[in-house]
Amino acid sequence: MNYRVEPLISQEKLAIAVDRLAAEAASLLEGETVVIGLFKGAFIFTADLVRALSRHGVEPRLDFLVLSSYGNATESSGKVTILMDCREDIRGRQVLLVDDILDSGNTLAFTVDYLMQKGAAKVLTCVLLDKPQRRTVRFEADLVGFTIPNTFVVGYGIDYAERHRELPFVGMVRFDGEKEETP
Ligand code: IMP
Ligand code: MG
Repeated sequence: MNYRVEPLISQEKLAIAVDRLAAEAASLLEGETVVIGLFKGAFIFTADLVRALSRHGVEPRLDFLVLSSYGNATESSGKVTILMDCREDIRGRQVLLVDDILDSGNTLAFTVDYLMQKGAAKVLTCVLLDKPQRRTVRFEADLVGFTIPNTFVVGYGIDYAERHRELPFVGMVRFDGEKEETP
């Protein structure tokens, strides 16, 4: 299907939001923190966030967790599985769990439970984008960059069928024939 990508959140706005999130996270974190990014979508956000955390006085340990993905679809299957576990020992530690988008809530609800079961002392969640209209499980993130409407987005690490992760901004995917709606 043909589509185009329309800018939604500029590079400048992203940078300001990342700095604000890092400041908020720094005020909530005490002691040793493990930052766990969810691969692949959160890789750029996590990279920027750890550098911003460092500017705000937090020296995080960094790890990633690989979960089952959407594949090439734009809808979550609702079932989450771990493809590659994190390596850091999180027992008794606080974790800052980072994802690109909070959508149905399945991914983060599952991952927070999983990390708590592994013995984390506390799990704070931080997402760049939140789509509250799409929630199917009760879950809210502790830290949110932007609340966005129910629209498929790409860029800044986020893909559509593995494309567009490299875009420096976040854009909306507009499929041909889709009716225009203003957020
Ligand atoms: P959830 O489990 O439904 O909350 O889905 C969260 C995951 O779905 C995120 O980690 C994203 O990778 C993916 N996702 C949700 N919305 C979008 C989107 O608009 N574009 C690309 N990926 C998305
Ligand atoms: Mg993801």
